[in-house]
Amino acid sequence: MSDKIQRVGIIGAGQMGAGIAEVCARAHVDVLVYETTRELAAAGRARILRSLDRGVSSGKITEREREQAAWRLRFTSDLSDFADRQLVVEAVVENEEVKTAIFSELDKVVTDPDAVLASNTSSIPIMKIAVATANPERVVGLHFFNPVPVLPLVELVTTLKTSEPVAKRAEAFAADILGKQVVRSADRSGFVVNALLVPYLLSAIRMVESGFATKEDVDKAMVLGCAHPMGPLALTDLVGLDTVKSIADSMYAEFKEPLYSAPPLLMRMVEAGLLGKKTGAGFYQYG
Ligand code: CAA
Ligand code: NAD
Repeated sequence: MSDKIQRVGIIGAGQMGAGIAEVCARAHVDVLVYETTRELAAAGRARILRSLDRGVSSGKITEREREQAAWRLRFTSDLSDFADRQLVVEAVVENEEVKTAIFSELDKVVTDPDAVLASNTSSIPIMKIAVATANPERVVGLHFFNPVPVLPLVELVTTLKTSEPVAKRAEAFAADILGKQVVRSADRSGFVVNALLVPYLLSAIRMVESGFATKEDVDKAMVLGCAHPMGPLALTDLVGLDTVKSIADSMYAEFKEPLYSAPPLLMRMVEAGLLGKKTGAGFYQYG
């Protein structure tokens, strides 16, 4: 197995890809980020720089660390630039077809046989993604949490085919280089956290949908009654309603559990483009 991971590729610079790229750059790793268009790449870079600025203003990093992290970030719209990467983390939309197409191409591009190909999927079984490659032993799930610079957890998901050295390499990267806490999960839709969290979010949406309680009261109840940092509707807005629906769909497809099925209110809001914080409106309005 080759050296310590120092060259990372991130696919997607949405809220998660940007967050993962930021924590890697802050950890002194060379980061190459893929986005489909120049405009999206520019938006991704701006998102990371804003977050680094926030780190400076809250005293977590110095001006110099911010500058150095920014230098370590490069962007491309050509996946073949990922040939020399030792670890790639895919963080595109929660859609199996899109992810498998990317992994199929990535597997041909990344030349190092010891390289780790990871997906940040919230819920899609990793084996479904790994079978798109000729080398499924180097595919794992590395599931980060939102906001990535703040939340210390990473779930490591291994499949029936993942090689243990690859799993150990991914775990060492998350723990020793990024300083995250790692828990291992078997390859089941939703893994550990979302298998517990998403039915709770969906139940909160059903409560609002049925008029059982207002969204403000549901959120207030969980913040003040259970000391959660935010209530379930605000959290759904933070995650993205499209992502919560896709996670629900994937968990429902796997287990046929009614509590995992997306409530009609969630489906209607996604159709209406009310995706939460990222589009400026979801259950709440944003600046
Ligand atoms: N980037 C970097 N830093 C951020 C940040 C971001 N996007 N958002 C917040 N922070 C930092 C702030 O700088 C601040 O740091 P200091 O205390 O050092 O100043 C700290 O986090 C707290 O931020 P705020 O005071 O602005 O706001 P807050 O206290 O209301 O916290 C929150 C905001 C961190 C989002 C908090 O409400 C929280 O942890 N909420 C729960 C989030 C959660 O449950 N995430 C998991 C979602 S599920 C998931 O990710 C998996 C999946 O597959 C869907
Ligand atoms: P996002 O909507 O912020 O970003 C989506 C990204 O996917 C963007 O970079 C976009 O350019 C890219 N994309 C969209 N369609 C594409 C296509 N057809 N081909 C290539 N790229 C495409 O989403 P996000 O919240 O960053 O989620 C990304 C991944 O991370 C998903 O798998 C999601 O389940 C997972 N995740 C999300 C959260 C969360 O709280 N939002 C937490 C953990 C994991």
